[in-house]
Amino acid sequence: MDIKSVVVIGAGTMGSGIAEWFASQFVSVELVDSNQEQLTKAITQIHRSWEKLVEKEKLTSCKMNQMKPFLEVKQLHQANKNADLVIEAIVENLEIKKNLFTDLDKYFSEKTILASNTSSFPITLLAQAVKEERKAKFIGLHFFNPATIMKLVEIITGKDTALQLAKDLYQWFDSKDKKPALCKDSPGFIVNRVARSFYGEPLRIAETEDQAKLKEIDHILKEVGGFKMGPFELMDLIGVEVNYSVTCSVWEAYNKSARFAPHKLQKQMVDEKRFGRKTKKGFYSYE
Ligand code: NAI
Repeated sequence: MDIKSVVVIGAGTMGSGIAEWFASQFVSVELVDSNQEQLTKAITQIHRSWEKLVEKEKLTSCKMNQMKPFLEVKQLHQANKNADLVIEAIVENLEIKKNLFTDLDKYFSEKTILASNTSSFPITLLAQAVKEERKAKFIGLHFFNPATIMKLVEIITGKDTALQLAKDLYQWFDSKDKKPALCKDSPGFIVNRVARSFYGEPLRIAETEDQAKLKEIDHILKEVGGFKMGPFELMDLIGVEVNYSVTCSVWEAYNKSARFAPHKLQKQMVDEKRFGRKTKKGFYSYE
């Protein structure tokens, strides 16, 4: 398998990171978003991130200039209908995702692989939105934040996904310096299932937003636990609202088992639109 052209739908935190990574691999990528302002912001940020790498001498300006033409921003109706791979990275809402996949199924050629970066929805459920003939080419490709740095990509097969497709994608990502993992289609896959406790237990320990307590828990998990980020810092990076919706969907999928229950603080923060870094206020404040 060779992937030469990719369309990424959703130019938010994940979509823009995924697009940036593909362009850095010299794979043509078209980044699509229904919000034109978000598209402009995304391409500006990606270019800025490359320029920073050049300033830090982690990237040559020659390589940056070679990478830039591999990334374009578009509206869906302008995207290449014959792309090899489409990755959906829009809001974590089942109905909105399914509606989009019905449109994508009609728009893209039959050879195009359709993938979702969903954190928690079963791939088999999302695949209901596409025609029978597409289902073998419908798969989960779950990247981690920041997608340019985090090596893991979970590859999730739905009930009708061709196993050979999963194996081919595994090999392709492996050859591109990512660490793919084949996963079964269970709620939260591997990481987001395990990670529910990483967020849920610290929330239950802290109970409130007492800054000293949050900092202490983050500190302990980093210094003693060896994690790169503490749970509260990480929720702020992921997006409190994204994390909350993943928690709710895993919790519901496990029949509201107490071990996956969301914490009241999460809902309160979402209601107050304190999403973390993106709104400059989450568990911590950002300038
Ligand atoms: P985000 O809120 O930062 O970005 C979503 C983008 O999708 C927005 O720019 C929005 O304008 C766009 N959008 C919404 N509906 C659209 C449509 N119908 N057509 C085109 N564009 C549309 O969300 P984020 O955090 O990037 O998450 C995206 C997906 O990735 C979700 O499924 C999430 O669960 C998953 N994910 C998120 C991670 C994170 O750390 N934030 C990590 C791994 C997966």
